[in-house]
Amino acid sequence: MDYKQHIASKINIDGVSQEEIYSLIVLPPSSEMGDYALPCFRFARILRKSPVQIAEELKNSCKPDGVISEITAVNGYLNFKINKTDLAVDTLKRILSEGDRYGSSDEGAGKTVCIDYSSVNIAKPFHIGHLSTTVIGGALYKIYKFLGYNAVGINHLGDYGTQFGKLICAYKHWGDREEVERGGIRAINDLYVRFNNEATEQMQVEAREYFRLIESGDKEANDLFEWFKELTLKYVKGIYEKLNVQFDSYAGERFYTDKMQPVIDELQQKGLLKESEGAKIVDLEEYGMTPCLILRSDGASLYATRDLAAAIYRKNTYDFNKCLYVVAYQQNLHFKQVFKVLELMGKEWAKDLVHVAYGMVSLEDGAMSTRQGRVVWLEDVIAKCVEKAYAIIDEKNPDLENKEQTAKLVGVGAVIFGALYNNKIKDIVFSYDKVLSFEGETSVYVQYTCARAFSVLSKSGGGEVLPENYAPNAEESEVIKELAKFPQIIKEAAEKYEPSFIARYSVDLAQKFNKFYIDCKILTETGDTKAFRLSLTRAVLHTLKNALTLLGIGVPEKM
Ligand code: ARG
Repeated sequence: MDYKQHIASKINIDGVSQEEIYSLIVLPPSSEMGDYALPCFRFARILRKSPVQIAEELKNSCKPDGVISEITAVNGYLNFKINKTDLAVDTLKRILSEGDRYGSSDEGAGKTVCIDYSSVNIAKPFHIGHLSTTVIGGALYKIYKFLGYNAVGINHLGDYGTQFGKLICAYKHWGDREEVERGGIRAINDLYVRFNNEATEQMQVEAREYFRLIESGDKEANDLFEWFKELTLKYVKGIYEKLNVQFDSYAGERFYTDKMQPVIDELQQKGLLKESEGAKIVDLEEYGMTPCLILRSDGASLYATRDLAAAIYRKNTYDFNKCLYVVAYQQNLHFKQVFKVLELMGKEWAKDLVHVAYGMVSLEDGAMSTRQGRVVWLEDVIAKCVEKAYAIIDEKNPDLENKEQTAKLVGVGAVIFGALYNNKIKDIVFSYDKVLSFEGETSVYVQYTCARAFSVLSKSGGGEVLPENYAPNAEESEVIKELAKFPQIIKEAAEKYEPSFIARYSVDLAQKFNKFYIDCKILTETGDTKAFRLSLTRAVLHTLKNALTLLGIGVPEKM
């Protein structure tokens, strides 16, 4: 049953709809307070009373029933406890019947969310700095789909700019076709770094000429550019496959080449374009921002110009309800400017654009530097994590079959989870030992818990039938409460663009299950108790798997 629905149906406040009450119901931070809570702050204005008073009055008018066992009013919150037996049987029934759909919903039916993420730069290293955008965006994509939205994953490739002139020039001077073909993106990057270190004045001039040639459609220059692009994409797609990340579009910056002029014309028409030292800008001083640069004095477009065209194109193509940009907080100003300019252009949908900003990732052994080629490639981080995972598994369980396969699931999972566990805005220091710990707040711990559940279920032989009536003990109740939260957690993760909520939830659920597992016998029990505990174990497994799957992490049956 939908407990939130039930709670909402019991509350009557003049001028507030049931849907609104439903949407306000939250999960209290601790289960001692209750299973659900209704904050009363929003009603203060309509009712002209304090939230504390409103909560008290609602408590008196709304009585517990068969489903709700207790209602309390605390500091402006109305807290509800759900009848334990009902909650237990109901929750398990629902999970066992929904299985890998548990937690999904159709709230997003008919709505589209565009998600711009990973957005790599052609011929530049795919490094640890791209980890967060890739896995946060990848998780949001899956989460929105799970909630019934039409999600559109967009890789806004960085495939525009003078660096390609430099690259072609470097290749012409020092490159070798076979070597680059073999070395792929790393060979390309070497050429680029060498150019930055060694290019002569003359080569700088040539590089500008090559860039001009790409722009003017010269065949040779464009063939080379396309080749570099192809090599980069082949490489990054290999990593996306490892990380379980998908895209529906690879329309990058270059795609907007012929879509910028109409935007510039529109800006002009609407009187927004200003001349400043030969450049064309939109003045944003009134809004406390530096101007948004639209055209440089030499007539060249900018990153922002392409983002303006891209936003308009996406609205026209996908008619999104929301368009997310999963990009580091260093670009806060850029997105504020772009969104503001669109608003000034009269695009009422500018309010649906969201910059989902996240913090930096560095490695324990010091910060990374992208310029001098001292780059930490994401590929290497993944490989090292898988290798370390293999060593740990080999030591713990030398006879395990499929050790390599398991090490992959564990190692890749650890990389993803390491980047997803904290609130996205926090800077994180990536530590191999930390993310691979069996005891910490890690995917390894969650996967290990799944393997434990698998093992119990395979020993029992299956076929357990959930009893119709069962009064759970304290440990069982804790697990049940946690299980029941899952759908709401997913919803909140989507609302706040925080896959970390799901990561944290999976650790909480695993901890509660492990406490239950240690305190309560399962296989040596009989009758209803055994059947209930096996059902509980199966429900935990479904839920943990669903949680990890939403993050892009696989689950081994044995570890
Ligand atoms: N390629 C850009 C970078 O590496 C990120 C692009 C983000 N998306 C966008 N629409 N601007 O900084």
